[in-house]
Amino acid sequence: MRSPFVAGNWKMNTTATEAEKLVLEMLDKLDRIKGAEKVLCPPFVSLVAINMMLQGSSIKLGAQNMYFETEGAYTGEISPVMLSELCEFVILGHSERRWYFGETDEIVNKKVKAALANRLQPILCVGERLAEKEAGKTEDVINRQVTADFKGIEPVSNLVIAYEPVWAIGTGKAASGEQAAATIQFIRDALAKLWNKSIAQDLRILYGGSVTSANIAEFIAHPEIDGALVGGASLKSEDFVSIVEQTAEIKGRVK
Ligand code: 13P
Repeated sequence: MRSPFVAGNWKMNTTATEAEKLVLEMLDKLDRIKGAEKVLCPPFVSLVAINMMLQGSSIKLGAQNMYFETEGAYTGEISPVMLSELCEFVILGHSERRWYFGETDEIVNKKVKAALANRLQPILCVGERLAEKEAGKTEDVINRQVTADFKGIEPVSNLVIAYEPVWAIGTGKAASGEQAAATIQFIRDALAKLWNKSIAQDLRILYGGSVTSANIAEFIAHPEIDGALVGGASLKSEDFVSIVEQTAEIKGRVK
């Protein structure tokens, strides 16, 4: 049985002071929610402080990116070894990294390998751009990303995948529950071919892209969708708590 999973990707938002305030606003309420795994992914500069704030709670910590080398002369980069002292998760292959920072599938593949080698669970993001969707290429793009990003990696169950259609990110134009569920099923089938059926059945696959407390139920009601990777709405404590509460509640019923 796959346990429901909700992660908040704060992206490049919150100063260290604002981040601590946001955690304080949500900590007790999130901590009390059973039935969903809860992960916060603040900016790097807040990881140490938030790691301390989350000690003894049921909330886990993730980073938003990392470099694939473990140490050395790579000015400005953060290594998996550094993160593994602080976090359990790391978001990799986010479309903003792919498109604004030129991350290729080859780079993402190296990062996934490095994360796994250092006991970090990747939250690997895949998804098509608007032009690719309109050209009917969604499945091709996803197949290419999954195959290339996991190239040379033995089947593993300690990772999470997020289907994030680029056209739905930060636009307020979320995919429909049906669209997301169908593409997520396609991803699961691709993983079954690449690895095996049993791993594909066990891996959690999330939806991300304009998820809010008002539309989360539409996604979570689909058995194919195991949770959400939330951007903008994860910066508002009430919304994020509500998204996690609804996820736990609805998944608890559909089981
Ligand atoms: P929004 O929820 O702001 O659309 O962002 C989604 C996302 O990119 C999460 O990683």
